Amino acid sequence: MREMLVDSYGRVVSYLRVSVTDRCNLRCVYCLPASHRPPFLSNDNLTDLELARLAALFAELGVSKIRVTGGEPLLRPGVPDLVRRLAGIGGIDDLSLSTNGLLLGGMAQDLAQAGLKRVNISLDSLNPDKFRQVTRYGDLEAVLAGIDAALAAGLSPVKLNVVVARGMNEEEIGDFVRLTEDRPLHVRLIELMPMGETGFFSQERWMPLPEMMEKASPLQELPRDAWPLGHGPARYYRRPGALGTVGFVSALSRGFCSSCNRLRLTAGGLLVPCLDAAEGTDLRAPLRRGADAGEIRRLVLETVQRKPERHTLLERASSLSPNPRLMCQIGG
Ligand code: GTP
Ligand code: 5AD
Ligand code: SF4
Repeated sequence: MREMLVDSYGRVVSYLRVSVTDRCNLRCVYCLPASHRPPFLSNDNLTDLELARLAALFAELGVSKIRVTGGEPLLRPGVPDLVRRLAGIGGIDDLSLSTNGLLLGGMAQDLAQAGLKRVNISLDSLNPDKFRQVTRYGDLEAVLAGIDAALAAGLSPVKLNVVVARGMNEEEIGDFVRLTEDRPLHVRLIELMPMGETGFFSQERWMPLPEMMEKASPLQELPRDAWPLGHGPARYYRRPGALGTVGFVSALSRGFCSSCNRLRLTAGGLLVPCLDAAEGTDLRAPLRRGADAGEIRRLVLETVQRKPERHTLLERASSLSPNPRLMCQIGG
């Protein structure tokens, strides 16, 4: 029988974000320092078999949604095989992936065939030069081809993640909203969070939600049953007559911790109870010394009990002391 994971604040955990590599082929200014040199994929990352075993155990405990993230998840060799394994686990009814889109053009079809349902793609500028500045290496054309390929492969819904920052892309908000008019694209405008010691976050760069919403207007609020499929913190609106939607993810101005439903698993097998948590529980060592399902379950239950009531990003923002953990290590 399926169980339910409930934390000490009564929140039900049904969503696992799995980082499958902490490597990335970009160095987005708000995410990674230009000099960042991650370790190469090594034996220290959980293998496909280990990930599948853990995912099956989480499914028994009540997890029904899995998101594959990174770093850039498509850099991990054989991701479609991993997706096939995860898709085959009973009880997982939503399998999605967050990607920077660079490699998606050549992989969307394979991923869809392997059982991936949908993708969220980062896209912070529609101007090729600006896009390169923000990502430091990115090729806008490749990402746009990735978006087309995702739509053509039937991955649905296709969401575009736009991290908004003053002096970076604020003047493009209207262009992003217009992308939703003719195609079923769901643009999410994301408030910048103080994550990782990148030196990028500042009060000046941070654009609070009300200002993003004003720049995106006119928008009409959508009832929940008209939102695109998803289990994350976004709330959705629509340009009158548009095919797609506009979502807002606001961790600072309009927190969403009271409805948090998630755990994170890092590529190295650390189970982390919150995006902002300092500690996690190592599952790799017990897995490798042959721990039985009961022992792993106990470790998961203990970690769920350690989910904090809320993050401290607002305090970090005002004191300019970001969470030291990089986004690519914790899986966004
Ligand atoms: P769906 O709604 O299921 O499509 O997924 P999602 O929005 O949860 O996933 P995605 O990887 O696209 O994340 C979108 C943004 O939300 C990113 O900036 C994430 O860092 C942020 N985010 C996701 N989960 C959390 C969370 O638990 N806490 C905070 N503060 N931010 C989160
Ligand atoms: N603040 C907000 N969103 C961020 N992301 C990465 N770093 C930050 C940050 N500091 C986003 C990426 C990607 C998603 C998984 O997390 O743009 O779309
Ligand atoms: Fe890579 Fe994503 Fe971070 Fe950009 S936001 S550097 S694409 S992990």
